[in-house]
Order: sequence, then structure tokens, then C-alpha cells
Amino acid sequence: MKAVIPAAGLGTRFLPATKALPKELLPVLDKPVIQYVVEEALAPSAVDGVVIVNSHEKPQINEYFSVDKHFEEYLRAHGKSKEAELVHEAGALPVSFAYQDDPRGLGHAVLCAAPETGDESFFVLLGDYFVPEKQMCVHMQEVSEAHGGASVIAVAPVPADQVSRYGIIAGERVESLSGIEGAADEEPGAVWKVSGLVEKPSPEDAPSHLFIVGRYLLSARVMELLRTQGPGAGGEIQLTDAMARLLEEEEMYAVVVDPNEGCDTGTPAAWAATNARMALANPAIRDAFIEGLGGARV
Ligand code: G1P
Repeated sequence: MKAVIPAAGLGTRFLPATKALPKELLPVLDKPVIQYVVEEALAPSAVDGVVIVNSHEKPQINEYFSVDKHFEEYLRAHGKSKEAELVHEAGALPVSFAYQDDPRGLGHAVLCAAPETGDESFFVLLGDYFVPEKQMCVHMQEVSEAHGGASVIAVAPVPADQVSRYGIIAGERVESLSGIEGAADEEPGAVWKVSGLVEKPSPEDAPSHLFIVGRYLLSARVMELLRTQGPGAGGEIQLTDAMARLLEEEEMYAVVVDPNEGCDTGTPAAWAATNARMALANPAIRDAFIEGLGGARV
């Protein structure tokens, strides 16, 4: 099974930095954002490779995930074997590429990976967010396996005035994740059976307050439906719309997660906060980071 990471965007929120550096390669501490997402995607046992949907404008991402023997040898020859290993690890990750040169929406980006995902279910991980502990997709795989391989998405509560930014589900809670018995309807661990999906509804039209957080485990049938999916919200080909059509044919489940389990890197403010959070959580960096803040006060 493959995991798909859409990464063809222009990164306009991070200009001017993204004039010459793809936003996916912005570092969180010493590692590019997208490497955290790739490592998270590889955590479920069913996943054996990651497909990055890139644009031809950002060859630096391909370069980053390529083996660079020459550089590794140079580092080893200069007594930097630990650094050589880090370079090797990035190049050795099981990453392949698909291309979306025309930005026609998330659904279209996912469809561009169809030749790589084949006739198997696949994960989709949106790249502006990563989960350091990597358990979210693992739990989704567990729920899918308990329901005969059904599609599973991660959802979380959102205030009513923000529903129009997201995909929102309709449905009812049917169970809890094993080991988290008793989770209330909108608490982490609750599992819902999905009966409807709406992309960016107005608050009056939202069927619940649970939004799709950007982690999907989808049946191969979604790729077929995306081939005939017309534009939806914002004139874009929406993944949510193809998933809504899937509901007419197959079951789908949603796992309620704590979105703070993951780190947002989608805006400069969120990216900076994520760097701070990761620095504070890293014993090797923590003290120097706090000292480096100098007189800064919240
Ligand atoms: C996309 C999805 C939406 C989801 C959101 C999560 O929207 O279409 O359903 O809730 O990601 O971040 P976008 O952020 O691309 O507008």
C-alpha cells in the first residue's frame, strides 16, 4: 500500500522564502517538513512506499530524496559519519514521484498519483501538518482492518464559525478505538460511521462540527471516482466530493483525533510555533533554545 503526499503547491504564504526553496523543504529544527510527513506515512505496517505529488517547478524535493553517494563519502572521509548517516537516511527513504503541473485542487492532485497506487487502498497525508508520534495513521489502519478494509478518515471538532474552511462529516458514533473505551462522541478515540461529507459548508449547512484533519485511508475506488469528478467548492476538484460519492457504494469510518497531537506548518506563525514546540520537546536543544530566546516574553 502506498501513501500519497500532495506537494505541488506554490507556497505563496511563505514568500519570499519560497521564491527559491519549496515550502516542503523548510526545516523544522534540522529536518525538512516533508521528511516528518514521509516518516509518519511509513509508520502503518501496511505502507511500503510514499508517493509525493510534486510539480516540475520544484526538483529540489526530488534531489533531497535521492541518494548522494559522493556527499556521503566526502562526509565519512572527513570524520563525519553521523552526518553521512543522516544524508544516507533521507536518500534511502522509499519515495517515488508523480506530477501535478496544473493546480486543479486536492482531488486532482491525488488522482495524479493513481499510476503509483494501483488497485490498492492508499493513505493521503496533507503535508502542512505532521504527527511526531506517528500513531494517527496506525490507528486508522486498525479501524479499517476491523471493518473489512473500509475507508477511514481522521476528524476533530472545530468551532461552528470555522466549518467553512474544512471538509465536514455527517454520521454517528458507533464505537471507540480499542483501549479507549467510553470516549464521548467528539472526544479522541470515538469512531464514527460516516453518512455524508461536505466540503467547506456554511455554518447553517454543516452536518456536524467534525472536520477532516488531513489524514485519509481510502479505498482504491476513490481513484476511479476522481476521474469523473467535476469541480466543487472554489471551482476545484475536491477529494471530499469524490469521497461523498464513495459513500453511495461503500462504508466509511472516521476516527476522532486530538489535532494537537500533530504540528501545523501551514503558515509562518504555525511553522514558527512548531519549531518552538519541537525545540522544547528535544532534550538536546531545549536549554540552548530557551537561552536563545533571551529576553523574549510571551
Ligand atoms: C483540505 C480538504 C479539507 C480538509 C482540509 C484540512 O482543504 O479539502 O476537506 O478539511 O484540507 O486541512 P484545504 O485546506 O486544501 O482548503
